[in-house]
Amino acid sequence: MQAQKRCLISREDIARRVKELATQISRDYAGRDPVLVGVLKGAFIFLADLVRALPFPVEVDFVRLKSYGAGTTSSGEIHITKDVEEPLKDRDVLIVEDIVDLGLTLDFLRKHLLTHHPRSLKICCLIDKKERRQVEVPLDYVGFPVEKGFLVGYGLDCGEKNRTWPEVYELINC
Ligand code: PRP
Repeated sequence: MQAQKRCLISREDIARRVKELATQISRDYAGRDPVLVGVLKGAFIFLADLVRALPFPVEVDFVRLKSYGAGTTSSGEIHITKDVEEPLKDRDVLIVEDIVDLGLTLDFLRKHLLTHHPRSLKICCLIDKKERRQVEVPLDYVGFPVEKGFLVGYGLDCGEKNRTWPEVYELINC
């Protein structure tokens, strides 16, 4: 059966929420010099929009973590295939993630980045998908809480497809 899609979050809603998150983050980090760590690949669009909505320049770095195979289910194992490159000791670090699902990826990344002894470590994620959570992670900034569904677009993929759609869709019969 061919997959069908349903628009879950429009580009207008994303733009409005990214602006609101940027306002909140800029207040919380006023007078500080944060480094934003994007989780590749999924967060690249969200991070790009978020940093441009901030009223001050920030440093950015990236990690590449993989938890899913080519299909729609998590292997449960997290792998770092690209680590951070900037020194994070005594820095205010904000992880930027596209989606939290099981929670395994962010739990792993938090623990990993804490070994760098940052001054502070917070998490900003666009979508908090709650239904399948296995590990609770502290989320400081959340764009959209969503109960369930296989989501694609705005950075999220299905087997490397559909990342560049400007809206977030739920795939049905995926
Ligand atoms: C996805 C997503 C998150 C992670 C969430 O990444 O972008 O990083 O899974 O998983 P969890 O909360 O269930 O642990 P994926 O491993 O598919 O790689 P990608 O970002 O390159 O698409």
